[in-house]
Amino acid sequence: MAAAGLPYPGRMLHLRLLCILGAAVLVAAPTSTAQGRRDATSSEGMVVTISPDASEVGADILARGGNAVDATIATAFALAVTHPSAGNVGGGGFMLVHPSDGSPPVFIDYREKAPLSSTVDMYVDGGSRKSHRFVGVPGTVRGLSLAHEIYGTMEWAELVEPAVKLARDGFVIHANLARSLNLTLLVSHNDEFKRVYGRADGEAWEAGQRLVLTDLGETLARIRDDRTNGFYAGKTAELLSAEMERGGGYVTLEDLARYRARVRTPIQFRYRGHDVLSAPPPSSGGITLAQAMQMLEPFELRKHGRWSPAANHLIIEAMRRAYAERAAHLGDADFVEIDPKLWSAEHARDLAKSIDPEKATPSAEIGPPLTLAKESKETTHLSVMDASGMAVSNTYTLEAGYGSGVVVTGAGFLLNNEMGDFNPEPGVTNDNGRIGTAANLIAPEKRMLSSMTPTIVTKDGKVVLVTGSPGGRTIINTVLCVTLNVLEFEMGIREAVDAARMDHEWFPDRLRLMGADDENEKLAEALRAMGHDVRSSRGQGDANSILVDPAGVLRGAADDEYGAAVALPKK
Ligand code: DON
Repeated sequence: MAAAGLPYPGRMLHLRLLCILGAAVLVAAPTSTAQGRRDATSSEGMVVTISPDASEVGADILARGGNAVDATIATAFALAVTHPSAGNVGGGGFMLVHPSDGSPPVFIDYREKAPLSSTVDMYVDGGSRKSHRFVGVPGTVRGLSLAHEIYGTMEWAELVEPAVKLARDGFVIHANLARSLNLTLLVSHNDEFKRVYGRADGEAWEAGQRLVLTDLGETLARIRDDRTNGFYAGKTAELLSAEMERGGGYVTLEDLARYRARVRTPIQFRYRGHDVLSAPPPSSGGITLAQAMQMLEPFELRKHGRWSPAANHLIIEAMRRAYAERAAHLGDADFVEIDPKLWSAEHARDLAKSIDPEKATPSAEIGPPLTLAKESKETTHLSVMDASGMAVSNTYTLEAGYGSGVVVTGAGFLLNNEMGDFNPEPGVTNDNGRIGTAANLIAPEKRMLSSMTPTIVTKDGKVVLVTGSPGGRTIINTVLCVTLNVLEFEMGIREAVDAARMDHEWFPDRLRLMGADDENEKLAEALRAMGHDVRSSRGQGDANSILVDPAGVLRGAADDEYGAAVALPKK
């Protein structure tokens, strides 16, 4: 819990900074339409997502006897309907599974791949990321199918059917979604997006209205009936490749046919008697999290208190050093060698040696100055547990909000623009936001480096915490804050999720602290006095999380004003 006597710097303003198509928009407090239940307690399982409808779909699968993976699959397909800015079938992501039968945890990598015709310098000339050219080969349907092959207990068709129904019958949109759709429709250049997601009469959406997605319903029905062939072959694949040809994209029928999801071993490290499991390459999340947490463990942050300048200074210094390592070393491990020493406790201790407990280290002293490219704030994370204790932490994305903005004509789904996560120009690292380090350069069929950090913490083999977040590069620091809040500062899950977060990414050499110009002003001033360039931020991520208390009770916290933590009723 937060140190006694210190203010509790929660996120009180209920404002959220959304980056939609690069435009920052402040979204005001919600009205009551379709608002989800943000907290839940259960011993029978639960589903925590940004979308009440999708959480209900997952909870219903649990109620029908499905396990946590069954529920995740159904929820992910439902989110492709109800949360179109990030829920998807045209994108990719990562699923971390912790089974309850003692078998080892498994990480399913369904990250998009570069098309076969990709070249290392294909984006040197820039161009709009909101275009067909930035689409990577989608991985979501293969990933969910692979998870089902390994762990599924219910019929595949039963898991996809709820999403088919939501798309065909429509669902009631809430105020945030209405606002987000209206803004996106205003700036969209994609006629199919306007046709599919716009109102027939051309008016703006209002909360409480029903959105019906007929073509998406048909695509989902093909996936329901033909599994991966319903997406990577046949009509869906033909519509997708025709869309690419029309718009100058690179994904072909051959790319689709060749795409496979991969099973990988999660990154694993110890923190205060717990095992932390997180995302391996092609995500940078797990290694960066391991480095930061293992740098911090010996400092005994707890004795300083959660909101003390001393503890926060140390957290920032750990972030700075871990993000420098991220930029230097990480990429798709199928293409570049990644030394396992990078996430060892020994390496973290070496990195921590240069931390001055009194003073900020200028980032330029850790490595040559560079400004990293801006990333949008759209992706979505869901946490699921079932009554047996099986846990799933799943983060998936279209990259930017609504991805490339391209809807596949006749198939009703949005395509990602994930190719923008590669380093665009070999050797060119500059203040305009380019990094040209080798590990994450483009190659055919390579996966672009990600920051998505689905994470599960266990103690003595039992799950303690399931968490993750959207937020581009801020994701890793969001997960770091939530995990430290629980493991180091012993907060309950609501407090851990609501507590102000911060983000330092090595370059630019500045800290974003939530509430730095209001409720956290004193902390910000103290950090400035230590040499940190502190800026205020209103929001950072959506860490939909589950904590299992020592009595085995699941406590869920959704992290969005409309998000839903849905628990199963006690039998
Ligand atoms: O894989 C990644 O790290 C990014 N493409 C995720 C994008 C993202 O999280 C945007 N935000 N919420």
